[in-house]
Amino acid sequence: MSDLSLAAAAPDCADDGVWLACIECGEQLAPFDEPTYRCPDCGGLLEARYEQYPTFEEFSGRGVWRYDAALPFDHGVSLPEGDTPLHEVPRLEADVGVRSLRVKHEGMNPTGSFKDRGMTVGVRVAEELGVSRLACASTGNTSAALAAYGGRAGLETLVLLPAGKVAAGKVAQAALHGARILEVDGNFDACLDIVSELADRGEAYLLNSLNPFRLEGQKTIGFEILETFRDEYGRFPDRIVLPVGNAGNTAALYKAFRELVRAGALAEDEVPMLTGVQAAGAAPMVEAIEEGYEDTERWEDVETRATAIRIGNPVNAPKALPGIRATGGTAVAVADDEITDAQRALAEEGVGVEPASAASVAGLRKLREEGVVDDSEDVVCLTTGHLLKDPDAAAAAGAEPEPVANDTEAILDHLSD
Ligand code: F0G
Repeated sequence: MSDLSLAAAAPDCADDGVWLACIECGEQLAPFDEPTYRCPDCGGLLEARYEQYPTFEEFSGRGVWRYDAALPFDHGVSLPEGDTPLHEVPRLEADVGVRSLRVKHEGMNPTGSFKDRGMTVGVRVAEELGVSRLACASTGNTSAALAAYGGRAGLETLVLLPAGKVAAGKVAQAALHGARILEVDGNFDACLDIVSELADRGEAYLLNSLNPFRLEGQKTIGFEILETFRDEYGRFPDRIVLPVGNAGNTAALYKAFRELVRAGALAEDEVPMLTGVQAAGAAPMVEAIEEGYEDTERWEDVETRATAIRIGNPVNAPKALPGIRATGGTAVAVADDEITDAQRALAEEGVGVEPASAASVAGLRKLREEGVVDDSEDVVCLTTGHLLKDPDAAAAAGAEPEPVANDTEAILDHLSD
C-alpha cells in the first residue's frame, strides 16, 4: 500500500528542506547527490518532499516559477511555460449540462504541451546533478519538450520513440530542437523499459515522469487551475477531468492538492474529484479502478488514434490510483470516435487540441450521460496538447478542402451550389 502522507520533519539527508521519499517503504534519500528514479531498497516510486508547504499567499510572479515556494529551486531553464488559458466554452458547457465547464489548455505551453512544466524543473535538477546527456521514452510530447529544454540548457538529448506511432508535429519538434531520435520497433512501454535501463547504467539522465522532479513542475497545473477558478468564481472546481497515459499528470495534480491541504490552504472537502480518461484500446487505469487493483496490470497490446496516450503500463499508477480514489473521482474509457467528436466540439469553440487532449471532454460527456457527473458540478477539463501536434488527425477530423478553378466566377458558382 503506498503512503502518500506528507510528513513534516526534514531528515538529515534533506538538502535545503527538500528530500526524496519512497512511497512504498518510506526510505528517505538525498535529492541531488546522484540521479535516482526508484527506491534503491524496494524499487518503489519516489516523491519529492519539503520541510514546508506554501499557501496561495506565498505565490507571486507568473507561469511555473510563480510557484517556486512549492518547488525545489526558485528558477530554471525557462522558455517560459505555464500561465495557460482557462477557456470558457459556453456551447459545450450547455451541451454537456454542468453548472460550469472550463478548459485548461495546456497546449498553449511553449512546445505545445503540459510537458514543458515538468521539463523546466527537470532540466534544472539535471544541471544541479551535473549530468551531460538527457533521455526519455516518449509518445511524442515529452520528446519535443526534452529536445527544446535540453537544447536551451546546452545538453545532449536522446529520445526513444515507438516507430510509426508518433504524430508528425512532435517528431518534427524533436528533430529541429536537435534531439538524437531513436525509433524503436516496439510500443512506448518497450521504449520506457529500455531508456530506464540506459539511465540505470548511467548512460543518460531520465526525464520521463518516473523522474519525481518532472512531476513537481507539472503539479503547478493544479495550483494554477485552483487559483484562477477561485479568482473568477469565488470557489474551487468540483472536478478536474484529464487524459491519462503514464498517469504522471494525475499523480502531479493529486500532489498539488495534498500539499495545499497540508499547508491549510485547501480543505479536504474542497479537493476536486480527479477523473481520468483513457482510450478504450489502452485503458489499464480504468481497469484498475473498476477492479479495485492497487496497481495496473500491463496491457501488452494497445491501440488508439490518440497516440499520446497509447500506453499499456502506466508507471505512475501507484501514485495516481490513490489520488483518484481519495478525491472521490473515477476513471472512464472512451472510443476513438468519441474522442474525435470531442476534438471537433472543442475546435468549434476555437480551442484546437490533439486527440489525446479531447479524451477529457469525451470522458466528461460519457460520465454526464451515465449520471456519474451531476449537473450541479463545476468542471475543468484539461487539454494537454495543441492541435498542430497531430496535423494528420486534425485534417482527418476536419472539413475536406474543395478543389476549385483559378477563377472568381467559377468559385462563385461553386459556392452557390
Ligand atoms: N495528453 C498528452 C497530449 C500527452 O502527451 C500525454 C503523455 C498524456 C496526455 C498523458 O499524460 O502520461 O501524465 O498520464 N505523453 C507522454 C509523452 C507519455 O511521451 O509525451 P500522463
